[in-house]
Amino acid sequence: MRDHFCGLIDETLIGQTVTLCGWADVARNMGGLVFIDLRDHEGIVQIVAEPSSAEGNADVLAVAAQIGYEDALQVTGVVRKRESVNNKIRTGQVEVVATKIEVLNKAEPLPFHHHENPGEDIRLKYRYLDLRAPEMQRKMRTRTKLVANLRRYLDERGFQDIETPILTKATPEGARDFLVPARMHPGEFYALPQSPQLFKQILMMAGFDRYYQIARCFRDEALRADRQLEFTQLDMEFAWVDEKIVQDTVEDMIREVFKETIGVELTSTFPRMTYAEAMRRYGSDKPDLRIALEFVDVAELVKGSEFKVFTDAASDADGRVVALRIPGGAALSRKQIDEYAAHAAKFGAKGLAYVKLDEAGAVNSPIAKFFADDAFKALLEAIGLKNGDIAFFGAGTYKMVSDFMGALRLKAGKDFNLVAEGWAPLWVTDFPMFEWDDEEQRYVALHHPFTAPAVDSIDDLRANAKTAVSRGYDMVLNGNEIGGGSIRIHSSKMQSAVFELLGIGAEEAEAKFGFLLDALKYGAPPHGGIAFGIDRIAALMAGSESIRDVIAFPKTTGAQCLMTGAPSEVPDKQLAEVHIQVREEKK
Ligand code: AMO
Ligand code: AMP
Repeated sequence: MRDHFCGLIDETLIGQTVTLCGWADVARNMGGLVFIDLRDHEGIVQIVAEPSSAEGNADVLAVAAQIGYEDALQVTGVVRKRESVNNKIRTGQVEVVATKIEVLNKAEPLPFHHHENPGEDIRLKYRYLDLRAPEMQRKMRTRTKLVANLRRYLDERGFQDIETPILTKATPEGARDFLVPARMHPGEFYALPQSPQLFKQILMMAGFDRYYQIARCFRDEALRADRQLEFTQLDMEFAWVDEKIVQDTVEDMIREVFKETIGVELTSTFPRMTYAEAMRRYGSDKPDLRIALEFVDVAELVKGSEFKVFTDAASDADGRVVALRIPGGAALSRKQIDEYAAHAAKFGAKGLAYVKLDEAGAVNSPIAKFFADDAFKALLEAIGLKNGDIAFFGAGTYKMVSDFMGALRLKAGKDFNLVAEGWAPLWVTDFPMFEWDDEEQRYVALHHPFTAPAVDSIDDLRANAKTAVSRGYDMVLNGNEIGGGSIRIHSSKMQSAVFELLGIGAEEAEAKFGFLLDALKYGAPPHGGIAFGIDRIAALMAGSESIRDVIAFPKTTGAQCLMTGAPSEVPDKQLAEVHIQVREEKK
Protein backbone atom coordinates (compact mmCIF):
# COMPACT_ATOMS: atom_id res chain seq x y z
CA MET A 1 0.00 0.00 0.00
CA ARG A 2 2.97 2.33 0.47
CA ASP A 3 6.56 2.64 -0.65
CA HIS A 4 7.80 5.18 1.91
CA PHE A 5 7.04 6.30 5.46
CA CYS A 6 5.66 9.81 6.04
CA GLY A 7 8.17 10.74 8.71
CA LEU A 8 11.17 9.73 6.59
CA ILE A 9 10.54 11.78 3.44
CA ASP A 10 13.58 14.00 2.90
CA GLU A 11 15.42 16.09 0.32
CA THR A 12 17.01 13.04 -1.32
CA LEU A 13 13.55 12.17 -2.65
CA ILE A 14 12.85 15.51 -4.33
CA GLY A 15 11.31 14.98 -7.79
CA GLN A 16 10.30 11.37 -7.03
CA THR A 17 6.78 10.00 -6.83
CA VAL A 18 5.98 8.35 -3.50
CA THR A 19 2.97 6.55 -2.06
CA LEU A 20 2.29 7.02 1.65
CA CYS A 21 -0.28 5.77 4.15
CA GLY A 22 -1.23 7.50 7.36
CA TRP A 23 -3.68 9.59 9.35
CA ALA A 24 -4.74 13.15 8.69
CA ASP A 25 -3.21 14.86 11.71
CA VAL A 26 -4.77 18.12 10.58
CA ALA A 27 -6.11 19.40 7.27
CA ARG A 28 -6.07 23.12 6.51
CA ASN A 29 -8.40 24.23 3.72
CA MET A 30 -7.19 27.49 2.19
CA GLY A 31 -9.82 27.68 -0.57
CA GLY A 32 -8.07 26.72 -3.80
CA LEU A 33 -5.46 24.80 -1.81
CA VAL A 34 -5.53 22.20 1.01
CA PHE A 35 -2.61 21.29 3.30
CA ILE A 36 -2.75 17.96 5.10
CA ASP A 37 -0.32 16.88 7.79
CA LEU A 38 -0.08 13.17 7.06
CA ARG A 39 1.17 11.15 10.05
CA ASP A 40 2.47 7.62 10.46
CA HIS A 41 4.60 5.93 13.15
CA GLU A 42 7.72 7.68 11.83
CA GLY A 43 6.33 11.21 11.88
CA ILE A 44 4.54 13.83 9.85
CA VAL A 45 4.92 15.13 6.31
CA GLN A 46 3.01 17.95 4.65
CA ILE A 47 0.77 17.00 1.73
CA VAL A 48 -0.42 19.72 -0.64
CA ALA A 49 -3.53 19.38 -2.74
CA GLU A 50 -3.43 22.09 -5.40
CA PRO A 51 -4.83 22.12 -8.94
CA SER A 52 -2.56 24.98 -10.02
CA SER A 53 0.84 23.26 -10.31
CA ALA A 54 2.00 20.78 -12.95
CA GLU A 55 1.61 17.81 -10.54
CA GLY A 56 -1.67 18.82 -8.91
CA ASN A 57 -5.24 18.25 -10.15
CA ALA A 58 -8.79 19.29 -9.38
CA ASP A 59 -9.95 15.78 -8.32
CA VAL A 60 -7.41 15.67 -5.58
CA LEU A 61 -8.50 19.05 -4.28
CA ALA A 62 -12.13 17.90 -4.13
CA VAL A 63 -11.17 14.83 -2.02
CA ALA A 64 -8.78 16.80 0.18
CA ALA A 65 -11.42 19.42 0.96
CA GLN A 66 -13.54 16.72 2.68
CA ILE A 67 -10.79 15.29 4.89
CA GLY A 68 -11.21 15.40 8.67
CA TYR A 69 -9.10 14.58 11.71
CA GLU A 70 -7.68 11.04 11.78
CA ASP A 71 -9.11 9.91 8.44
CA ALA A 72 -6.99 6.97 7.24
CA LEU A 73 -5.47 7.96 3.91
CA GLN A 74 -3.38 6.67 1.05
CA VAL A 75 -1.63 9.46 -0.79
CA THR A 76 0.47 9.37 -3.95
CA GLY A 77 2.40 12.47 -4.93
CA VAL A 78 5.64 14.12 -5.94
CA VAL A 79 8.19 15.28 -3.38
CA ARG A 80 9.30 18.88 -3.75
CA LYS A 81 11.25 21.45 -1.78
CA ARG A 82 9.04 23.32 0.65
CA GLU A 83 8.78 27.08 0.34
CA SER A 84 8.24 27.86 4.03
CA VAL A 85 10.59 25.48 5.82
CA ASN A 86 9.29 24.03 9.14
CA ASN A 87 12.21 23.21 11.41
CA LYS A 88 9.97 21.70 14.08
CA ILE A 89 9.50 18.47 12.12
CA ARG A 90 12.05 16.15 10.60
CA THR A 91 10.49 16.41 7.12
CA GLY A 92 10.19 20.21 7.35
CA GLN A 93 12.37 20.85 4.26
CA VAL A 94 9.98 19.10 1.88
CA GLU A 95 6.34 18.50 1.00
CA VAL A 96 4.42 16.09 -1.21
CA VAL A 97 2.20 17.46 -3.97
CA ALA A 98 -0.66 14.98 -4.16
CA THR A 99 -1.57 13.39 -7.48
CA LYS A 100 -4.04 10.98 -5.85
CA ILE A 101 -5.67 10.81 -2.42
CA GLU A 102 -7.74 7.85 -1.34
CA VAL A 103 -9.72 7.89 1.89
CA LEU A 104 -9.23 4.32 3.13
CA ASN A 105 -11.36 4.81 6.21
CA LYS A 106 -13.18 7.95 7.20
CA ALA A 107 -12.97 8.73 10.95
CA GLU A 108 -16.08 9.69 12.86
CA PRO A 109 -15.93 12.81 15.03
CA LEU A 110 -13.24 12.11 17.63
CA PRO A 111 -13.74 11.92 21.41
CA PHE A 112 -10.56 14.01 21.64
CA HIS A 113 -7.57 14.96 19.61
CA HIS A 114 -4.02 14.59 20.87
CA HIS A 115 -3.37 18.27 20.18
CA GLU A 116 -5.89 19.19 22.88
CA ASN A 117 -4.07 17.91 25.97
CA PRO A 118 -7.01 15.71 27.04
CA GLY A 119 -7.57 14.28 30.54
CA GLU A 120 -6.08 10.89 31.35
CA ASP A 121 -9.40 9.05 31.75
CA ILE A 122 -10.52 9.78 28.21
CA ARG A 123 -7.04 8.99 26.90
CA LEU A 124 -7.16 5.59 28.58
CA LYS A 125 -10.68 4.85 27.34
CA TYR A 126 -9.64 5.52 23.74
CA ARG A 127 -6.07 4.37 24.27
CA TYR A 128 -5.60 3.55 20.55
CA LEU A 129 -6.14 7.21 19.68
CA ASP A 130 -3.91 8.32 22.53
CA LEU A 131 -1.10 6.01 21.48
CA ARG A 132 -1.19 7.42 17.94
CA ALA A 133 0.16 10.74 19.28
CA PRO A 134 3.81 11.23 18.28
CA GLU A 135 4.82 11.80 21.91
CA MET A 136 3.35 8.46 22.97
CA GLN A 137 4.92 6.73 19.99
CA ARG A 138 8.27 8.16 21.07
CA LYS A 139 7.84 6.95 24.66
CA MET A 140 6.82 3.45 23.64
CA ARG A 141 9.72 3.25 21.24
CA THR A 142 12.13 4.23 24.02
CA ARG A 143 10.83 1.26 25.97
CA THR A 144 11.28 -1.07 22.99
CA LYS A 145 14.86 0.10 22.56
CA LEU A 146 15.58 -0.32 26.27
CA VAL A 147 14.35 -3.91 26.29
CA ALA A 148 16.21 -4.76 23.08
CA ASN A 149 19.45 -3.32 24.48
CA LEU A 150 19.07 -5.18 27.77
CA ARG A 151 18.46 -8.45 25.95
CA ARG A 152 21.46 -7.96 23.69
CA TYR A 153 23.72 -7.14 26.62
CA LEU A 154 22.70 -10.29 28.48
CA ASP A 155 22.58 -12.59 25.45
CA GLU A 156 26.15 -11.61 24.58
CA ARG A 157 27.26 -12.58 28.08
CA GLY A 158 25.76 -16.03 28.21
CA PHE A 159 22.71 -15.32 30.35
CA GLN A 160 19.99 -17.84 29.60
CA ASP A 161 16.46 -16.52 29.04
CA ILE A 162 14.14 -18.97 30.79
CA GLU A 163 10.39 -18.64 31.26
CA THR A 164 8.82 -19.42 34.64
CA PRO A 165 5.16 -20.17 35.39
CA ILE A 166 2.41 -17.57 35.64
CA LEU A 167 -0.02 -20.00 37.26
CA THR A 168 1.91 -20.86 40.37
CA LYS A 169 2.11 -20.80 44.12
CA ALA A 170 2.43 -17.61 46.16
CA THR A 171 5.87 -15.99 46.20
CA PRO A 172 5.81 -13.34 48.90
CA GLU A 173 7.21 -9.94 47.95
CA GLY A 174 5.14 -8.07 50.51
CA ALA A 175 1.99 -7.50 48.45
CA ARG A 176 -1.34 -9.29 48.18
CA ASP A 177 -1.59 -12.16 45.69
CA PHE A 178 -3.88 -12.38 42.70
CA LEU A 179 -5.61 -15.74 42.88
CA VAL A 180 -6.90 -17.93 40.07
CA PRO A 181 -9.43 -20.64 40.94
CA ALA A 182 -8.35 -24.13 39.90
CA ARG A 183 -11.28 -25.72 38.07
CA MET A 184 -9.85 -29.21 38.39
CA HIS A 185 -9.26 -28.82 42.14
CA PRO A 186 -12.35 -27.41 43.82
CA GLY A 187 -11.49 -24.91 46.52
CA GLU A 188 -7.87 -24.62 45.45
CA PHE A 189 -6.16 -21.70 43.80
CA TYR A 190 -3.13 -20.79 41.77
CA ALA A 191 -1.44 -17.50 42.60
CA LEU A 192 -0.01 -15.20 39.96
CA PRO A 193 3.67 -14.57 40.67
CA GLN A 194 4.61 -11.38 42.55
CA SER A 195 7.99 -12.13 40.99
CA PRO A 196 9.76 -15.27 39.71
CA GLN A 197 11.88 -15.24 42.89
CA LEU A 198 11.75 -18.89 43.94
CA PHE A 199 11.87 -20.26 40.41
CA LYS A 200 14.99 -18.30 39.57
CA GLN A 201 16.70 -19.49 42.75
CA ILE A 202 15.79 -23.05 41.87
CA LEU A 203 17.16 -22.51 38.35
CA MET A 204 20.53 -21.78 40.00
CA MET A 205 20.24 -25.03 41.95
CA ALA A 206 19.36 -26.65 38.62
CA GLY A 207 22.68 -25.68 37.09
CA PHE A 208 21.85 -22.74 34.81
CA ASP A 209 24.51 -20.44 36.28
CA ARG A 210 23.25 -17.15 34.76
CA TYR A 211 19.56 -16.47 34.14
CA TYR A 212 17.43 -13.58 33.00
CA GLN A 213 13.83 -13.09 32.05
CA ILE A 214 11.72 -10.14 31.01
CA ALA A 215 9.05 -11.19 33.47
CA ARG A 216 5.53 -9.96 34.10
CA CYS A 217 4.82 -9.67 37.82
CA PHE A 218 1.47 -9.28 39.59
CA ARG A 219 0.92 -7.52 42.88
CA ASP A 220 -2.44 -6.54 44.30
CA GLU A 221 -1.35 -3.31 45.95
CA ALA A 222 -2.34 0.36 45.92
CA LEU A 223 -1.55 1.93 42.54
CA ARG A 224 0.57 5.03 42.15
CA ALA A 225 2.51 6.85 39.46
CA ASP A 226 5.31 4.28 39.82
CA ARG A 227 3.20 1.20 40.58
CA GLN A 228 0.90 -0.99 38.53
CA LEU A 229 -0.93 -4.21 39.40
CA GLU A 230 1.02 -5.93 36.67
CA PHE A 231 4.41 -4.68 35.69
CA THR A 232 7.56 -5.92 34.02
CA GLN A 233 10.86 -6.84 35.61
CA LEU A 234 14.19 -7.60 34.14
CA ASP A 235 14.73 -10.52 36.47
CA MET A 236 18.27 -11.91 36.91
CA GLU A 237 20.05 -14.55 38.96
CA PHE A 238 23.69 -15.64 39.26
CA ALA A 239 25.19 -18.81 40.79
CA TRP A 240 28.51 -18.95 42.69
CA VAL A 241 28.66 -15.22 43.37
CA ASP A 242 28.90 -12.64 46.08
CA GLU A 243 27.35 -9.18 45.91
CA LYS A 244 30.30 -7.60 44.13
CA ILE A 245 29.91 -9.65 40.95
CA VAL A 246 26.17 -9.04 40.78
CA GLN A 247 26.51 -5.32 41.43
CA ASP A 248 29.43 -4.77 39.06
CA THR A 249 27.72 -6.68 36.25
CA VAL A 250 24.37 -4.94 36.43
CA GLU A 251 25.93 -1.54 37.00
CA ASP A 252 27.89 -1.96 33.78
CA MET A 253 24.71 -3.13 32.04
CA ILE A 254 22.69 -0.13 33.21
CA ARG A 255 25.47 2.24 32.14
CA GLU A 256 25.61 0.64 28.71
CA VAL A 257 21.86 0.63 28.08
CA PHE A 258 21.54 4.26 29.12
CA LYS A 259 24.23 5.15 26.60
CA GLU A 260 22.72 3.04 23.84
CA THR A 261 19.09 3.91 24.45
CA ILE A 262 19.16 7.64 25.20
CA GLY A 263 22.82 8.64 24.81
CA VAL A 264 23.32 9.34 28.51
CA GLU A 265 26.67 8.62 30.19
CA LEU A 266 26.13 7.70 33.84
CA THR A 267 28.97 8.11 36.36
CA SER A 268 31.67 5.48 36.09
CA THR A 269 31.12 3.98 39.55
CA PHE A 270 27.81 4.42 41.31
CA PRO A 271 28.18 5.72 44.84
CA ARG A 272 27.20 3.36 47.67
CA MET A 273 25.29 4.35 50.73
CA THR A 274 24.01 2.28 53.62
CA TYR A 275 20.32 2.30 54.42
CA ALA A 276 21.12 3.89 57.80
CA GLU A 277 23.04 6.75 56.17
CA ALA A 278 20.33 7.33 53.57
CA MET A 279 17.66 7.57 56.27
CA ARG A 280 19.83 9.79 58.44
CA ARG A 281 20.76 12.27 55.71
CA TYR A 282 17.70 12.19 53.46
CA GLY A 283 14.89 10.39 55.29
CA SER A 284 14.50 7.94 52.43
CA ASP A 285 15.83 4.58 51.29
CA LYS A 286 15.73 5.92 47.73
CA PRO A 287 17.22 9.38 48.09
CA ASP A 288 17.15 11.76 45.15
CA LEU A 289 20.77 12.93 45.19
CA ARG A 290 20.07 15.63 42.62
CA ILE A 291 18.66 17.65 45.53
CA ALA A 292 21.48 18.98 47.71
CA LEU A 293 19.30 19.50 50.83
CA GLU A 294 20.22 17.38 53.87
CA PHE A 295 18.80 16.82 57.33
CA VAL A 296 20.51 18.09 60.47
CA ASP A 297 19.80 16.01 63.58
CA VAL A 298 19.19 18.40 66.44
CA ALA A 299 17.97 16.20 69.32
CA GLU A 300 20.92 17.14 71.51
CA LEU A 301 20.35 20.86 70.88
CA VAL A 302 16.66 20.85 71.79
CA LYS A 303 16.86 18.66 74.88
CA GLY A 304 17.09 21.71 77.15
CA SER A 305 14.11 23.50 75.60
CA GLU A 306 10.64 23.80 77.08
CA PHE A 307 8.93 22.33 74.02
CA LYS A 308 7.60 18.98 75.16
CA VAL A 309 7.12 17.60 71.64
CA PHE A 310 10.84 18.08 71.01
CA THR A 311 12.14 17.01 74.42
CA ASP A 312 10.01 13.84 74.40
CA ALA A 313 11.31 12.80 70.98
CA ALA A 314 14.87 13.81 71.87
CA SER A 315 14.94 11.62 74.96
CA ASP A 316 13.24 8.61 73.34
CA ALA A 317 15.68 5.94 72.13
CA ASP A 318 13.51 5.45 69.05
CA GLY A 319 12.85 9.20 68.62
CA ARG A 320 14.24 11.77 66.28
CA VAL A 321 14.32 15.56 65.96
CA VAL A 322 15.46 16.84 62.63
CA ALA A 323 15.83 20.18 60.89
CA LEU A 324 15.77 20.82 57.16
CA ARG A 325 17.14 24.13 55.96
CA ILE A 326 15.74 25.51 52.70
CA PRO A 327 17.85 28.31 51.24
CA GLY A 328 15.64 31.21 50.19
CA GLY A 329 12.68 29.64 51.99
CA ALA A 330 11.90 32.72 54.10
CA ALA A 331 9.90 33.87 51.08
CA LEU A 332 7.22 31.29 51.97
CA SER A 333 3.98 32.91 53.11
CA ARG A 334 1.97 31.73 56.10
CA LYS A 335 -0.41 29.99 53.68
CA GLN A 336 2.44 28.25 51.87
CA ILE A 337 3.90 27.09 55.18
CA ASP A 338 0.48 25.62 55.99
CA GLU A 339 0.61 23.77 52.68
CA TYR A 340 3.96 22.30 53.66
CA ALA A 341 2.47 21.25 57.00
CA ALA A 342 -0.48 19.64 55.21
CA HIS A 343 1.92 17.79 52.91
CA ALA A 344 3.94 16.56 55.91
CA ALA A 345 0.71 15.49 57.63
CA LYS A 346 -0.02 13.12 54.72
CA PHE A 347 3.18 11.32 55.71
CA GLY A 348 2.32 11.17 59.40
CA ALA A 349 3.44 14.56 60.79
CA LYS A 350 1.53 15.85 63.80
CA GLY A 351 2.79 19.40 63.27
CA LEU A 352 5.51 21.27 61.48
CA ALA A 353 7.58 23.75 63.44
CA TYR A 354 9.73 26.24 61.55
CA VAL A 355 12.15 29.11 61.89
CA LYS A 356 12.28 31.87 59.32
CA LEU A 357 15.11 34.38 59.13
CA ASP A 358 14.06 37.25 56.92
CA GLU A 359 16.48 39.16 54.71
CA ALA A 360 17.24 41.54 57.59
CA GLY A 361 17.89 38.67 60.02
CA ALA A 362 14.64 38.96 62.03
CA VAL A 363 13.39 35.66 63.48
CA ASN A 364 9.87 34.41 62.88
CA SER A 365 9.18 31.12 64.64
CA PRO A 366 6.41 29.56 66.70
CA ILE A 367 8.99 27.67 68.76
CA ALA A 368 11.49 30.44 69.61
CA LYS A 369 9.54 31.07 72.81
CA PHE A 370 10.46 27.60 74.11
CA PHE A 371 14.21 28.25 73.97
CA ALA A 372 16.66 30.35 75.94
CA ASP A 373 18.26 32.93 73.62
CA ASP A 374 21.69 31.25 73.62
CA ALA A 375 20.26 27.81 72.99
CA PHE A 376 18.18 29.09 70.08
CA LYS A 377 21.20 30.81 68.58
CA ALA A 378 23.22 27.62 68.88
CA LEU A 379 20.40 25.69 67.22
CA LEU A 380 20.23 28.05 64.23
CA GLU A 381 23.99 27.94 63.91
CA ALA A 382 24.03 24.15 63.84
CA ILE A 383 21.41 24.20 61.07
CA GLY A 384 23.43 26.79 59.17
CA LEU A 385 20.40 29.07 58.83
CA LYS A 386 21.17 32.25 56.88
CA ASN A 387 19.15 35.38 56.26
CA GLY A 388 16.43 34.60 53.78
CA ASP A 389 16.20 30.90 54.76
CA ILE A 390 13.59 28.79 56.47
CA ALA A 391 14.16 25.61 58.46
CA PHE A 392 11.42 23.08 59.10
CA PHE A 393 11.51 20.77 62.11
CA GLY A 394 10.21 17.26 62.56
CA ALA A 395 9.89 15.49 65.90
CA GLY A 396 8.53 12.04 66.68
CA THR A 397 9.54 8.43 66.08
CA TYR A 398 12.60 7.88 63.89
CA LYS A 399 10.64 6.29 61.07
CA MET A 400 7.80 8.80 61.03
CA VAL A 401 10.05 11.86 61.16
CA SER A 402 12.29 10.46 58.44
CA ASP A 403 9.23 9.79 56.25
CA PHE A 404 7.59 13.18 56.47
CA MET A 405 10.78 15.22 56.46
CA GLY A 406 11.96 13.14 53.49
CA ALA A 407 8.73 14.01 51.68
CA LEU A 408 9.21 17.71 52.51
CA ARG A 409 12.74 17.57 51.15
CA LEU A 410 11.41 16.38 47.80
CA LYS A 411 8.67 19.00 47.73
CA ALA A 412 11.07 21.81 48.65
CA GLY A 413 13.53 20.56 46.03
CA LYS A 414 10.87 20.89 43.35
CA ASP A 415 9.25 24.11 44.60
CA PHE A 416 12.56 25.95 44.96
CA ASN A 417 14.10 24.60 41.77
CA LEU A 418 16.81 22.80 43.68
CA VAL A 419 16.74 19.63 41.56
CA ALA A 420 20.01 19.60 39.62
CA GLU A 421 19.99 18.58 35.95
CA GLY A 422 21.25 15.14 35.09
CA TRP A 423 21.32 11.65 36.54
CA ALA A 424 22.11 10.57 40.07
CA PRO A 425 22.40 6.79 40.45
CA LEU A 426 23.45 5.07 43.65
CA TRP A 427 23.40 1.76 45.47
CA VAL A 428 21.66 1.53 48.80
CA THR A 429 23.01 -1.36 50.88
CA ASP A 430 22.95 -2.85 54.38
CA PHE A 431 19.20 -2.85 54.80
CA PRO A 432 17.83 -4.11 58.09
CA MET A 433 16.99 -7.79 57.79
CA PHE A 434 13.64 -7.37 59.58
CA GLU A 435 11.14 -4.67 60.32
CA TRP A 436 8.81 -4.89 63.32
CA ASP A 437 5.16 -4.85 62.24
CA ASP A 438 3.14 -3.29 65.06
CA GLU A 439 -0.21 -4.40 63.67
CA GLU A 440 0.78 -8.02 63.22
CA GLN A 441 3.09 -8.02 66.25
CA ARG A 442 5.83 -9.83 64.39
CA TYR A 443 8.88 -9.24 62.25
CA VAL A 444 8.44 -8.89 58.50
CA ALA A 445 11.21 -9.17 55.93
CA LEU A 446 12.37 -5.81 54.61
CA HIS A 447 13.32 -7.35 51.26
CA HIS A 448 11.86 -10.85 50.98
CA PRO A 449 12.28 -13.87 53.25
CA PHE A 450 14.93 -15.46 50.99
CA THR A 451 17.48 -12.68 51.44
CA ALA A 452 20.63 -13.75 53.26
CA PRO A 453 21.48 -12.07 56.55
CA ALA A 454 24.98 -10.61 56.95
CA VAL A 455 25.74 -12.81 59.95
CA ASP A 456 28.02 -15.76 60.56
CA SER A 457 25.58 -18.14 62.17
CA ILE A 458 21.97 -18.88 62.96
CA ASP A 459 22.67 -18.22 66.65
CA ASP A 460 24.10 -14.84 65.79
CA LEU A 461 20.96 -13.99 63.77
CA ARG A 462 18.61 -15.13 66.55
CA ALA A 463 20.51 -13.11 69.15
CA ASN A 464 20.59 -9.93 67.04
CA ALA A 465 17.44 -10.11 64.94
CA LYS A 466 16.43 -6.53 65.71
CA THR A 467 19.65 -5.00 64.43
CA ALA A 468 20.70 -7.62 61.86
CA VAL A 469 21.56 -6.30 58.43
CA SER A 470 20.78 -8.18 55.22
CA ARG A 471 22.82 -8.76 52.09
CA GLY A 472 20.22 -6.90 50.04
CA TYR A 473 20.87 -3.96 47.74
CA ASP A 474 18.75 -1.52 45.77
CA MET A 475 19.71 0.53 42.75
CA VAL A 476 18.29 4.04 42.96
CA LEU A 477 18.14 6.62 40.19
CA ASN A 478 16.94 10.20 40.69
CA GLY A 479 14.87 9.22 43.70
CA ASN A 480 13.36 6.09 42.13
CA GLU A 481 14.02 2.54 43.23
CA ILE A 482 14.77 1.04 39.83
CA GLY A 483 16.08 -2.32 41.03
CA GLY A 484 16.35 -4.48 44.09
CA GLY A 485 18.09 -7.73 44.85
CA SER A 486 20.21 -9.68 47.28
CA ILE A 487 22.48 -12.58 47.97
CA ARG A 488 20.15 -15.43 48.93
CA ILE A 489 20.08 -17.89 51.73
CA HIS A 490 21.51 -21.13 50.34
CA SER A 491 21.31 -23.28 53.46
CA SER A 492 18.08 -25.02 54.31
CA LYS A 493 18.73 -24.60 58.04
CA MET A 494 19.29 -20.85 57.78
CA GLN A 495 16.16 -20.54 55.63
CA SER A 496 14.12 -22.38 58.27
CA ALA A 497 15.54 -20.14 61.00
CA VAL A 498 14.54 -17.01 59.06
CA PHE A 499 11.03 -18.36 58.51
CA GLU A 500 10.80 -18.99 62.23
CA LEU A 501 11.91 -15.42 63.07
CA LEU A 502 9.25 -14.18 60.66
CA GLY A 503 6.62 -16.07 62.62
CA ILE A 504 6.21 -18.75 59.96
CA GLY A 505 6.01 -22.01 61.90
CA ALA A 506 7.63 -25.24 60.73
CA GLU A 507 4.33 -26.67 59.49
CA GLU A 508 3.38 -23.54 57.56
CA ALA A 509 6.91 -23.28 56.14
CA GLU A 510 6.69 -26.87 54.95
CA ALA A 511 3.27 -26.30 53.33
CA LYS A 512 4.26 -23.08 51.59
CA PHE A 513 7.94 -23.50 50.87
CA GLY A 514 8.68 -27.20 51.38
CA PHE A 515 9.93 -27.47 47.79
CA LEU A 516 12.47 -24.71 48.42
CA LEU A 517 13.63 -26.14 51.75
CA ASP A 518 14.09 -29.50 49.99
CA ALA A 519 15.92 -28.03 47.01
CA LEU A 520 18.33 -26.21 49.31
CA LYS A 521 19.38 -29.56 50.80
CA TYR A 522 20.99 -31.03 47.69
CA GLY A 523 24.08 -28.94 47.15
CA ALA A 524 22.50 -25.58 46.39
CA PRO A 525 25.25 -23.21 45.24
CA PRO A 526 25.67 -19.78 46.82
CA HIS A 527 23.65 -17.48 44.58
CA GLY A 528 22.20 -14.02 44.27
CA GLY A 529 20.51 -11.69 41.85
CA ILE A 530 18.42 -8.66 41.27
CA ALA A 531 15.31 -7.47 39.45
CA PHE A 532 14.90 -4.14 37.69
CA GLY A 533 11.63 -2.34 37.10
CA ILE A 534 11.52 -2.01 33.31
CA ASP A 535 8.52 0.32 33.44
CA ARG A 536 10.29 2.64 35.85
CA ILE A 537 13.51 2.75 33.86
CA ALA A 538 11.59 3.32 30.61
CA ALA A 539 9.61 6.16 32.22
CA LEU A 540 12.82 7.81 33.43
CA MET A 541 14.42 7.44 30.01
CA ALA A 542 11.35 8.83 28.27
CA GLY A 543 11.08 11.75 30.71
CA SER A 544 7.67 10.64 32.00
CA GLU A 545 6.27 11.32 35.45
CA SER A 546 4.27 8.09 35.41
CA ILE A 547 4.97 4.53 34.30
CA ARG A 548 1.48 4.57 32.72
CA ASP A 549 3.03 6.49 29.83
CA VAL A 550 5.33 3.63 28.90
CA ILE A 551 2.78 0.83 29.31
CA ALA A 552 0.52 0.41 26.29
CA PHE A 553 -2.57 -0.55 28.27
CA PRO A 554 -2.17 0.43 31.92
CA LYS A 555 -4.73 0.36 34.72
CA THR A 556 -6.03 3.52 36.37
CA THR A 557 -5.26 4.28 40.01
CA GLY A 558 -8.71 2.77 40.61
CA ALA A 559 -7.31 -0.56 39.28
CA GLN A 560 -9.44 -0.59 36.12
CA CYS A 561 -8.79 -0.79 32.41
CA LEU A 562 -11.02 1.94 31.02
CA MET A 563 -10.73 0.64 27.47
CA THR A 564 -11.91 -2.95 28.01
CA GLY A 565 -13.85 -2.34 31.19
CA ALA A 566 -11.88 -4.88 33.23
CA PRO A 567 -12.49 -6.06 35.86
CA SER A 568 -16.03 -7.19 35.08
CA GLU A 569 -18.67 -9.58 36.31
CA VAL A 570 -18.85 -13.09 34.88
CA PRO A 571 -21.90 -15.32 34.35
CA ASP A 572 -22.94 -17.60 37.23
CA LYS A 573 -22.31 -20.65 35.07
CA GLN A 574 -18.68 -19.69 34.67
CA LEU A 575 -18.35 -19.10 38.39
CA ALA A 576 -19.93 -22.47 39.13
CA GLU A 577 -17.41 -24.20 36.88
CA VAL A 578 -14.59 -22.89 39.04
CA HIS A 579 -16.51 -23.59 42.26
CA ILE A 580 -16.87 -19.93 43.22
CA GLN A 581 -19.81 -18.28 44.91
CA VAL A 582 -19.71 -14.51 45.25
CA ARG A 583 -20.27 -13.50 48.88
CA GLU A 584 -20.93 -9.81 48.35
CA GLU A 585 -23.15 -8.51 45.58
CA LYS A 586 -21.75 -5.66 43.56
CA LYS A 587 -22.53 -2.30 45.18
P1 AMO B 1 11.34 -5.88 44.19
O1 AMO B 1 10.06 -6.17 44.89
O2 AMO B 1 12.24 -4.84 44.77
O3 AMO B 1 12.25 -7.19 44.12
O4 AMO B 1 11.03 -5.53 42.69
C1 AMO B 1 12.08 -5.24 41.78
C2 AMO B 1 11.79 -3.94 41.05
O5 AMO B 1 10.53 -3.99 40.38
C3 AMO B 1 9.96 -2.71 40.34
N1 AMO B 1 8.60 -2.77 40.91
C4 AMO B 1 7.49 -2.27 40.35
N2 AMO B 1 7.29 -1.58 39.22
C5 AMO B 1 6.03 -1.22 38.90
N3 AMO B 1 4.95 -1.53 39.63
C6 AMO B 1 5.08 -2.22 40.79
N4 AMO B 1 3.99 -2.53 41.51
C7 AMO B 1 6.40 -2.61 41.20
N5 AMO B 1 6.90 -3.30 42.25
C8 AMO B 1 8.22 -3.39 42.06
C9 AMO B 1 10.86 -1.77 41.12
C10 AMO B 1 11.68 -2.73 41.96
O6 AMO B 1 12.94 -2.21 42.27
N6 AMO B 1 12.27 -10.80 43.61
C11 AMO B 1 12.85 -9.51 43.97
C12 AMO B 1 14.12 -9.24 43.20
C13 AMO B 1 15.30 -10.00 43.69
O7 AMO B 1 15.47 -10.13 44.92
O8 AMO B 1 16.09 -10.44 42.81
C14 AMO B 1 11.84 -8.42 43.69
O9 AMO B 1 10.83 -8.61 43.05
O10 AMO B 1 11.70 -1.07 40.23
P1 AMP C 1 2.29 24.49 69.48
O1 AMP C 1 2.97 25.26 70.57
O2 AMP C 1 1.65 23.22 69.92
O3 AMP C 1 1.42 25.36 68.63
O4 AMP C 1 3.45 23.98 68.51
C1 AMP C 1 4.47 24.84 68.06
C2 AMP C 1 4.91 24.43 66.68
O5 AMP C 1 5.42 23.10 66.71
C3 AMP C 1 3.80 24.47 65.65
O6 AMP C 1 4.34 25.12 64.50
C4 AMP C 1 3.52 23.01 65.37
O7 AMP C 1 3.15 22.82 64.01
C5 AMP C 1 4.87 22.39 65.64
N1 AMP C 1 4.81 20.96 65.96
C6 AMP C 1 3.91 20.29 66.71
N2 AMP C 1 4.19 18.95 66.74
C7 AMP C 1 5.30 18.78 65.98
C8 AMP C 1 6.11 17.66 65.61
N3 AMP C 1 5.83 16.42 66.03
N4 AMP C 1 7.17 17.86 64.80
C9 AMP C 1 7.47 19.10 64.38
N5 AMP C 1 6.78 20.19 64.68
C10 AMP C 1 5.71 20.05 65.50
